[in-house]
Amino acid sequence: MTMVSIRTPDDWHVHLRDGAQLTQTVAATARCFARAIVMPNLVQPVCTVEAARQYRNRIRSASPSGAPFQPLMTCYLTDDTDPGEVAAGYAAGVFTACKLYPAHATTHADSGVTNVRRIQPVLATMEKIGMPLLIHGEVTDADVDVFDREAIFIERVLTRMVQDFPGLKVVFEHITTAEAVDFIRECRAQIVATITPHHLVINRNAMFQRGMRPHAYCLPVAKRERHRVALRKAATSGLPRFFLGTDSAPHPRAMKESACGCAGIFNAPVALEVYTQVFEEEGALDRLEAFASEYGPRFYGMPPNRDRITLKRNPWQVPDVIEIGRQAVVPFLAGETLVWRLDTNRGRRLQELAP
Ligand code: DOR
Ligand code: ZN
Repeated sequence: MTMVSIRTPDDWHVHLRDGAQLTQTVAATARCFARAIVMPNLVQPVCTVEAARQYRNRIRSASPSGAPFQPLMTCYLTDDTDPGEVAAGYAAGVFTACKLYPAHATTHADSGVTNVRRIQPVLATMEKIGMPLLIHGEVTDADVDVFDREAIFIERVLTRMVQDFPGLKVVFEHITTAEAVDFIRECRAQIVATITPHHLVINRNAMFQRGMRPHAYCLPVAKRERHRVALRKAATSGLPRFFLGTDSAPHPRAMKESACGCAGIFNAPVALEVYTQVFEEEGALDRLEAFASEYGPRFYGMPPNRDRITLKRNPWQVPDVIEIGRQAVVPFLAGETLVWRLDTNRGRRLQELAP
């Protein structure tokens, strides 16, 4: 196979950041994704309809001309989130979903939810109006090993939540474990999961290869090899419950290569190419389109994109560094050679604009 053509995909989980960074982050995503679910964990979290509307305007202003890109906004849940605000934002077409960060689970999650009991009325409202809940599924208890946080979250929080709210639509985001894969397979159809490109490619050894590798550090952290294998099986299974969400999350190089390095992997410049390679390696290229471009919109009740993008077998080297908002960021797989390259009008136009 030397060419792959699929319906234009969407990214169902991305961090675009804000301010001067938006020009490059939006271009890197819009080069191949028509829509994206935008995470609300800004320095000042996006908790209100007005904040989301303004953030959406800033993203739209930063979007490259010539390629339609639709940011889909999310509401950052806190202990004090007002169900009325959530419902109003959803009705107004500003919020597409709500995001649950357990307090302190990750970057800018300090205002997150301390106990899901605190947001029961919000969840009840979301269940009633059909609004999806996006979950960073990790417990934060100090006595729980960092590699077990996702599996324990399933046991202690998620199992109960999906029982208590049998109509709630849930996205278990960026899953990293075989336990999460099994959980999703056994749940009802409205409980789905996104899978990142990096968790399909690296296992936890990547963080410790001949030294500490901060650019392989993200949350949830990559797990053992058996989990990576389970994720690859799930992504390429053809099951509509697993679909694309990159979790592309840029941090300046200096913030990663630090005594206390930030969690996050900037994969937008390579994400689709990496997914394509993984599907090819798994002998499942015929299932890439559904994973990347069909199951996500189906879950969210949106039409799939009508235009198409093409990837060609045309090896290229990932840059060592990309400038984002005048700061150096090291992309995922920096310096390595990828076999697939985007090659469409949309791709070419945006590739020029993208960092
Ligand atoms: O690695 C991560 N980075 N995981 C998250 O959940 C947040 C993200 C970020 O915003 O940097
Ligand atoms: Zn994320």
